[in-house]
Amino acid sequence: MKVHAAGVNPIDWKIRGGVGKRMGLTLPITLGGEVAGIIERTGDEIRDFKEGDAVYGIIPSGGFAEYAIAKTGEIGPKPKSLDFINAAAIPLGGLTAWQAMFDLASLSSGQRILIAGASGGVGSLAVQLAKAKGAYVIGLASGRNKEFVQQLGADEFVDYTKQDFEKS
Ligand SMILES: NC(=O)c1ccc[n+]([C@@H]2O[C@H](COP(=O)([O-])OP(=O)(O)OC[C@H]3O[C@@H](n4cnc5c(N)ncnc54)[C@H](OP(=O)(O)O)[C@@H]3O)[C@@H](O)[C@H]2O)c1
Repeated sequence: MKVHAAGVNPIDWKIRGGVGKRMGLTLPITLGGEVAGIIERTGDEIRDFKEGDAVYGIIPSGGFAEYAIAKTGEIGPKPKSLDFINAAAIPLGGLTAWQAMFDLASLSSGQRILIAGASGGVGSLAVQLAKAKGAYVIGLASGRNKEFVQQLGADEFVDYTKQDFEKS
């Protein structure tokens, strides 16, 4: 695929810093796990995608490049409502938030959830997904991001620089 945008995540600088060894990765390596772009060419047996399709997803082979190789299970059609830059910012953070809240914690409508790092890459998506699920959302971040987190839909905001949330 031709890469139009790629997201930067903590895992990128952690791998660059040497953490990748634990995952069997050796440097040099092409970083960048989440991308959005256009299919340039497909393998002979690929039926789900065709040349010219706009896609986004998580590709372990690395997206900080002009072209990247994706397996079919790693990508999906890019939502038409998102441009490439916004689409590339969603896959890793969105999947992380989804797995934590729905696959592991089974968050349901009406429950209360405290989202730490609510202004960050994972947390900003978690706030929106939890609200869409019908949960009561408390966002934890620093005061400079209060308005941002509230705009995302948080019902309450806690500034971790001023309040010890574990005791409140
Ligand atoms: N991004 C991913 O796809 C992904 C995937 C798997 C795991 N993770 C892990 O999830 C964590 C967050 O990743 P991210 O991409 O969301 O990082 P990020 O965009 O840098 O966001 C970090 C968040 O943590 C908040 N924060 C910083 N210090 C804090 C403190 N002392 N108490 C409470 N909150 C604090 C920040 O709030 P302020 O900026 O408002 O101060 C911000 O909301 C990292 O450990 C990362 O390795 C991330």
